[in-house]
Amino acid sequence: MARLNDNFLKLKAGYLFPEIARRVKAFSDANPEAAKNIIRCGIGDVTEPLPQASRKAMHEAIDELGNRETFRGYGPEQGYEFLRQAIVDNQFAGLGIAADEVFISDGSKCDTGNILDIFGPGNKIAITDPVYPVYVDTNVMAGNTGEADENGAFEGLVYLPCNAANDFVPAIPDEKVDLIYLCYPNNPTGTAATKDQLKAWVDYARENGSIILYDAAYEAFIQEADVPHSIFEIEGAKECAIEFRSFSKIAGFTGVRCAYVVIPKTVEGTLADGSKKALHPLWSRRHSTKFNGASYPVQRGAEAIFSDEGKAETAELVEHYMGNAKLLRETCEKIGLAVYGGVNAPYVWVACPEGVTSWGMFDKMLEQANVVITPGAGFGAAGEGYFRISAFNSRANVEEVCRRIAEHL
Ligand code: MLT
Repeated sequence: MARLNDNFLKLKAGYLFPEIARRVKAFSDANPEAAKNIIRCGIGDVTEPLPQASRKAMHEAIDELGNRETFRGYGPEQGYEFLRQAIVDNQFAGLGIAADEVFISDGSKCDTGNILDIFGPGNKIAITDPVYPVYVDTNVMAGNTGEADENGAFEGLVYLPCNAANDFVPAIPDEKVDLIYLCYPNNPTGTAATKDQLKAWVDYARENGSIILYDAAYEAFIQEADVPHSIFEIEGAKECAIEFRSFSKIAGFTGVRCAYVVIPKTVEGTLADGSKKALHPLWSRRHSTKFNGASYPVQRGAEAIFSDEGKAETAELVEHYMGNAKLLRETCEKIGLAVYGGVNAPYVWVACPEGVTSWGMFDKMLEQANVVITPGAGFGAAGEGYFRISAFNSRANVEEVCRRIAEHL
């Protein structure tokens, strides 16, 4: 009989967001009237329509594909040159990143999970707590951990607690780790890291031969001038970091799917014989073997957000969602809750009222206010006692959520 991957059985519950969807469905089935009022601020899924610039570019690309003279089949697995160059020119200008160090994909969730393909066994892996669950679950699936304890913490991972005392940026560990997942602006806490904080991590990584897996999917939402947009703004990062970026949240692409990883050719790891080897050719090889490239119309749609029209439209989207975040922050503050994030990211991280657990808060918000939030504990043990509200919604819905929060909390 075929042997299965036992590691999957270490994952106790379902993935967080399907689990939330399951609970919302159970509530809705039992309460069909209340279900009509439900407002979803759980998963960070965008609600506003695609920018006109992207739609126009995708329509044109479809028309090209409908014409024998301009038809295209397989594209380059790593992405079309036009998009890789537009990314470098618009997102990494002056940072010394080359177009062929950018790998286009169909999403950061896949990229942050798939990247483990190029790392060998035995790495010591550090993750923040709370954390975007994909980093943990994919390491469990890959066999990089032992079993989970009663708090859901996996043996073998190094957990870096993030809390109000350290401004949700983890302290440098005493021990040596090989891979470090950092996400800033942060999902789930909505907080940002300063240049000095990231510099400390880059220095640590260079001293210890570690690699930082830097998830900057929410970079576009940064409002404060001194917050770095890319890890590559930090001196030395091109020797020790790779960066994940996405079009999902900035351009309404959660359903369209387009993202990228930046892997400088100067980032190296070691092979079994102790010799050094760059990550770049390994990822390139992996990409061309397991991926046939994001679709041509999608890449044209992504390129169009860097046009003048596209930039103006995405700026409006960011302003809209960050306006929502401000309303949510202010409402929670007004009723006396401790509130974090929501200034440089579209997530607001709120301390539960005294004595209420984060899943208790999830139930209370669903049952009394008919609002779906994400329980902090779903992001790790250190998320207990908090809940996350996503600012991705229409303004009318957010105003209604604020009204219900004020009424029910
Ligand atoms: C979230 O709600 O944390 C995000 O939607 C997750 C994701 O982008 O995959």
